[in-house]
Amino acid sequence: MGTLRDLQYALQQKIEELRQRDALIDELELELDQKDELIQNLQTELDKYRSVLQPTGQSVSEQPELAEQQRTKRQAISAEPTALDIKDISHVTLTCYSKNEKSQELIKAAILDNDFMKNLEMSQILEIVDCMYPVEYNQGSCIIKEGDIGSLVYVMEDGKVEVFKDDVKLCEMGPGKVFGELAILYNCTRTATVKALSHTRLWAVDRQCFQTIMMRTGLIKHAEYMHFLKSVPSFQHLQEDVLSKIADVLEEMHYDTGDYIIRQGASGDTFFIISKGKVMVTKQEAAGEELVVLSTLSRGDWFGEQALKG
Ligand code: CMP
Repeated sequence: MGTLRDLQYALQQKIEELRQRDALIDELELELDQKDELIQNLQTELDKYRSVLQPTGQSVSEQPELAEQQRTKRQAISAEPTALDIKDISHVTLTCYSKNEKSQELIKAAILDNDFMKNLEMSQILEIVDCMYPVEYNQGSCIIKEGDIGSLVYVMEDGKVEVFKDDVKLCEMGPGKVFGELAILYNCTRTATVKALSHTRLWAVDRQCFQTIMMRTGLIKHAEYMHFLKSVPSFQHLQEDVLSKIADVLEEMHYDTGDYIIRQGASGDTFFIISKGKVMVTKQEAAGEELVVLSTLSRGDWFGEQALKG
């Protein structure tokens, strides 16, 4: 009897062991699926980067009259604030299209999910959301043709599309995805063909509106930086064009109280000008010794200039 009970016990243990293994296998399979999805997404992003770096430069079949505008050279995001004056575009009124909160959130989330657009400023994203208007395509329609001049960026509200490059299917996309962004952002021709797999409802924004939003924010920022630089006594003797070049490369950085901006001994590559707040400069003569406060800096003061000398 004792042996039978032992065997039953051992069997129970084995069953429990098997159950735990099954659970582990399920967990690992789930993890594998997630990793596969991540790899797929990264592959897509990589393909997209490759597309804008090596555009195909094919014929412009949809709008042949625009052929002479075709550019294959990759450029930085196409809204450079240099040639235009803020007065030129500050008066441009952009047309807004009303949409419900769900659609607004979908567009915003789609932009934030897109590697090429997620770094736009939130104010720019919200303006794009406002300016997008609805368009629909029937199943089988060609929404974007590879090689064409592009004029619209889309966000999918509803439906499914498939993406082809050189007649090879790359992927399918569903609601909440941005597409058609590359030709507008990089001033290149359409890098792929996009076809509607089902009736598709999209939101669209045109190139001009998109660029106005980009430029306006860029110009406003540039004007703000110029104003700030001119208010800094140490920069007041600098010429307008020099200040403008500094304003072009300024980037705003934010630090919380107590954060280290520069660490003693670390190699530096950034020159800082304080626009708001106070900064404490300390030095430690030797390891284990107390920090000595050298100075306290505030608005208009700078530090990190040694980095520029290198
Ligand atoms: P654009 O080049 O303007 O027009 C075609 C669009 O297809 C492109 O922008 C991207 O939005 C999208 N696209 C291009 N390459 C890929 C890819 N490898 N995977 C998914 N989408 C892509």
